[in-house]
Amino acid sequence: MPKTPINKTRPDWWPAKDTEICALCDIAPGAARGFTLTGEGAGDKLELIIWRDDKGAAEVLRGFVNKCPHMGLPLETFPDRFLNAMGDGLICSAHGAQFDATGACFGGPCKGAVLISVQLIVQDRDNNKHIVLRPPAPHSASA
Ligand code: FES
Repeated sequence: MPKTPINKTRPDWWPAKDTEICALCDIAPGAARGFTLTGEGAGDKLELIIWRDDKGAAEVLRGFVNKCPHMGLPLETFPDRFLNAMGDGLICSAHGAQFDATGACFGGPCKGAVLISVQLIVQDRDNNKHIVLRPPAPHSASA
């Protein structure tokens, strides 16, 4: 019987269509927050990190699956505590892996590995901006 790799980071479930996460104003500029999406099935669950990265010339909305490539654990111990002290990278609280703005690990036990990025779009509705997860194409979701 094949073993499940301990560093499995790819989620088993994605929403089938665009899914609103929250209003853009629910995340302060420079902050990161965690979100859990669920579906109809018992195992339909996707943990996300959404980061309004304002360290560059223009603010960038970044999204990642919240599974550390070291052991597949969520990055945070305390709710929404994803960023390092400088606010310019993500850090895993389990064993200290550090990730740059692209999700690449540059320090810690999984150096060279990457967080799985997710595609986010911002939609205008009801005079507000909303963050929406766009699911990956079917062939890339199961890789
Ligand atoms: S699980 Fe993240 S560094 Fe070990």
